[in-house]
Amino acid sequence: MLVNMKEILLDAKLNNYAVGSFNVYSYETIKGVIEAGKQNNNPAIIAFGEKYIKNMDFESVYALVNNLSKDTKVPFALHLDHCSNLENVYKAIRAGFTSVMYDGSSLKFEENVENTSKVVEVAHSCNVSVEAELGSLAAGVDSNEGNLEDKEIYTSPAQAEEFANSTKIDALAVSIGTVHGMYKGVPDIRVDILKKIKEKVHIPLVLHGGSGTPQNVLKDCIENGICKINVNTEISVYTIEKIREMLNDNKKHHLSEVSLKETEFVKEVVTKYMKIFK
Ligand code: 13P
Repeated sequence: MLVNMKEILLDAKLNNYAVGSFNVYSYETIKGVIEAGKQNNNPAIIAFGEKYIKNMDFESVYALVNNLSKDTKVPFALHLDHCSNLENVYKAIRAGFTSVMYDGSSLKFEENVENTSKVVEVAHSCNVSVEAELGSLAAGVDSNEGNLEDKEIYTSPAQAEEFANSTKIDALAVSIGTVHGMYKGVPDIRVDILKKIKEKVHIPLVLHGGSGTPQNVLKDCIENGICKINVNTEISVYTIEKIREMLNDNKKHHLSEVSLKETEFVKEVVTKYMKIFK
């Protein structure tokens, strides 16, 4: 069942767990996330970034997600991940996405507030939820998301309060030391900053850069207000590694078999995170 992301996150907030937001780029990855959700009776957010429009257009993503999720009561949201292009935000809403992330985090605070508020007005009138971000994540290893020059800018708790109140967003992504990609060294996650944000901001908080974050840190973040955790890099790294192993056995393989295995491997990594988050 496809629903507005707000519905999923409010239940997570009320019951102190987090919902995984898993990035997809193909039929196999979409199917892997949805099957993991169905088998574990666990809601999930299917995240598609504008960067992957070369792989699939918004309409095709919506058609697949809608079709694969319509025979279950497990709630899924179809979410546009990190989008700084307003035209693409509106295209995703028109295609049927139930949630969008407008990412104006690289803009001046006032401009970010102005653009995000415009997106909220349109999205809410279409029953679509909105996530926005304050601060910025650095890039780790193997990230397909960020750029190497991305710098860590921690979210200011005071600005977060003003931002959430002025824009009326449904969820706020914070920057507290996680990175897009795998960590280069030992992660230094500032749960102290998260606690201050949670005191001031009462909507669900989002943690980007889930891949490779130690389990105890993830649990600590969930206890302190994180209701949505994004995972991208590990889905790709794990699945490619497993397919490489599979193809190294000197046997002949048909592409259709590789496609089925890809879905299985995506399901494994998604299930691992679902179990940590709940
Ligand atoms: P990772 O690639 O580090 O898991 O981060 C994903 C993410 O934050 C997507 O928005």
